[in-house]
Amino acid sequence: MEQGQADVRMPIAIIGLGGIGRAHLLHALASAHVRPVAVADPAPAAQVFARTHGVPWFADHRELLDRTRAQAAIVATPNGAHVGVGLDCIARGLVVLVEKPIADTVAEARRLCDAAAAANLPVLVGHQRRHSPYVRRARQLIDDGVIGRPVSIVAMATWLKPDPYFETEWRRSPGGGPVLINLIHDIDMLRHLVGDVASVQASTSSAIRGFAVEDTAAVILRFANGALGTVAGSDAAVAPWNYDLAAGEAAHYPQQHVDAMFISGTEGSMTLPRLSVWRYRGARGWHEPLSEERTAVHRYDPYLEQLRHLRAVVEGAEAPLCSGIDGLRTLAATRAVLDAADSGRPVVPGA
Ligand SMILES: NC(=O)c1ccc[n+]([C@@H]2O[C@H](COP(=O)([O-])OP(=O)(O)OC[C@H]3O[C@@H](n4cnc5c(N)ncnc54)[C@H](O)[C@@H]3O)[C@@H](O)[C@H]2O)c1
Repeated sequence: MEQGQADVRMPIAIIGLGGIGRAHLLHALASAHVRPVAVADPAPAAQVFARTHGVPWFADHRELLDRTRAQAAIVATPNGAHVGVGLDCIARGLVVLVEKPIADTVAEARRLCDAAAAANLPVLVGHQRRHSPYVRRARQLIDDGVIGRPVSIVAMATWLKPDPYFETEWRRSPGGGPVLINLIHDIDMLRHLVGDVASVQASTSSAIRGFAVEDTAAVILRFANGALGTVAGSDAAVAPWNYDLAAGEAAHYPQQHVDAMFISGTEGSMTLPRLSVWRYRGARGWHEPLSEERTAVHRYDPYLEQLRHLRAVVEGAEAPLCSGIDGLRTLAATRAVLDAADSGRPVVPGA
């Protein structure tokens, strides 16, 4: 910014400065729309990181909220603290962007959404894939009827987490596995593209690592519109078929040039993230030739776009792309995967 110019970027706070909180801070420092006024995280390493980047640090988020003038807060603490911290922000009139999952439980998520509604404040949930140029274009193609009515969906979320990842205890315990950490992103993406999930069947396995938490999951989703989908997920397989690897939108994942999601409809099919669309140009039917068309999109960073959107929501110019209630429904569908695997029966999310 030039000297003498007023800083028009919206002041935000970042609470929780671990892996993703630091990424949010770096994005906020690079953003033309928001600026980080302060961060809160009791960890000494967080204090050092904040100082390195010249951003005021607080050990306690309540002190930050009372002593700074942020208009919105990003809550990037461990899942169990999302609701408590989020409620403190809402009590002080801040719009909250809470990382996924919105809460540990659907009941807790409801508590946060109710408090925000009572305060007439929007809540956003950090399902950043909704801001991806690939997902945005896919949604537009579906809304335009290019593939017709969705019929059958296959999503893959297979990759290998390195051994040191599991040195942290909670990652070996129930709740810390690929279903609630990773598949929740795929389920949110499918809810965004295909529609609400009506029921879930699933099986999980911990046969490879032998931890208390699953390392592999096979999921059948029945969507409210009648479409059926399968999601295959594992963090113990050497494989590239995972949206995050395929899209290469986060710098820490080397991009693999593959597709990870296949959506088939009554008029055509589509892959993600490469956005191949398959359709008949003339006569229809399995003996006829199918044409493939690729859509190229302008690449941009979904996390940076999410910050632009956060400001637009605070200013009332846009509605949340992933609202608190949306995040709650995604959490309900994801928890239903674990419940269905435990019971061996179909589960209606949130029921
Ligand atoms: N959207 C994404 O791409 C994405 C990616 C990774 C993680 N996440 C989510 O972000 C959240 C954080 O994950 P992470 O991997 O950064 O975890 P992490 O363990 O690396 O960091 C969490 C940080 O929060 C701090 N903390 C704990 N309690 C706090 C409190 N009450 N107030 C302030 N700070 C507190 C800890 O000291 C730690 O530094 C989780 O909910 C996770 O699911 C989202």
